[in-house]
Amino acid sequence: MSKIDNIYNKISKVVPNIEWDFHAPYIEKINKLKKEKNAVILAHNYQTPEIYHGVADIAADSLALALEAAKTKADIIVLCGVHFMAETAKLMNPKKKVLIPDMDAGCSLASSITGEDVRMLKEKYPGVPVVSYVNTSAEVKAESDVCCTSANAVKVVESLGVDKVIFLPDHYLANYVQKNTKVKIISWQGTCIVHEKFTGNEINDIRKQNPGIKIIAHPECPPDVINASDFAGSTSSMVNYVKEKQPKKVLLVTECSMSDNIQIENPKVDFIKPCNLCPFMKKITLKKIYDCLEKEINEIKIGNNIAMRARESVTRMANIGR
Ligand code: 13P
Ligand code: SF4
Repeated sequence: MSKIDNIYNKISKVVPNIEWDFHAPYIEKINKLKKEKNAVILAHNYQTPEIYHGVADIAADSLALALEAAKTKADIIVLCGVHFMAETAKLMNPKKKVLIPDMDAGCSLASSITGEDVRMLKEKYPGVPVVSYVNTSAEVKAESDVCCTSANAVKVVESLGVDKVIFLPDHYLANYVQKNTKVKIISWQGTCIVHEKFTGNEINDIRKQNPGIKIIAHPECPPDVINASDFAGSTSSMVNYVKEKQPKKVLLVTECSMSDNIQIENPKVDFIKPCNLCPFMKKITLKKIYDCLEKEINEIKIGNNIAMRARESVTRMANIGR
């Protein structure tokens, strides 16, 4: 069986046949081009199955993507995810060419705060360290002491050895961290437009309708959703939870592609699928991946001054680890 048939066999459960005829030529062309150009494709867990299973060399959560970007030997990194992820990859490995298939793949959290806002917060709370979620621009990272992701937020906050931190920009993630540490958290009002839509009532209803179901949520969800869930963690922690526990029925309270992507490797698990789409993640398509790698367009550039300071924040996060 050819390589491309193998890929289709794998993803046929979640990608309709009619779409495959359109995807297959791109998957073949991208995989060939990757070899010719010594490029690596790093994809976030929210990418569609044809990207996640068809062309990604690594598919992971935002922390793992940053760590992989730091150690890759490839000449070009194509980051299939949103803009802050590509910027983080560039900060982690400044000598590499980092491309993003669509420059407009933003993030509601990243756009909720500017460097100027952080400077204002530092003036208001002098001496209080700033922990910024990796879902921020390089400019915000440059104003921060350290970054974190949802996979290590509590660990990063506690690593500072202080009794108070400014934690931005996700209000709900800040809430989640506050529940899991004694350090006082000063938060910002940013939210993720995907996760803020879930409600605790909706989750409770699904549990009533599906006795025995396991419900796992991303910590960007509102507190009543997390309280109504069995587990909360980063996208990769959610993947691992399903792999290890093999629940009969599961609901992933997060972006829609997650269930499709994991279903393939967990055929015995029944995925209940009320989910929300991230319009930014969905800007990335196979055609755009091909075009950006072929023409080497949409390169991430960060001014030296910001890059130098932002790099310190992400490097501190990388040293703390998961
Ligand atoms: P993870 O770090 O858990 O992959 O999440 C990133 C993200 O943008 C979730 O909305
Ligand atoms: Fe940003 Fe939310 Fe999309 Fe994640 S899911 S990239 S936090 S808008």
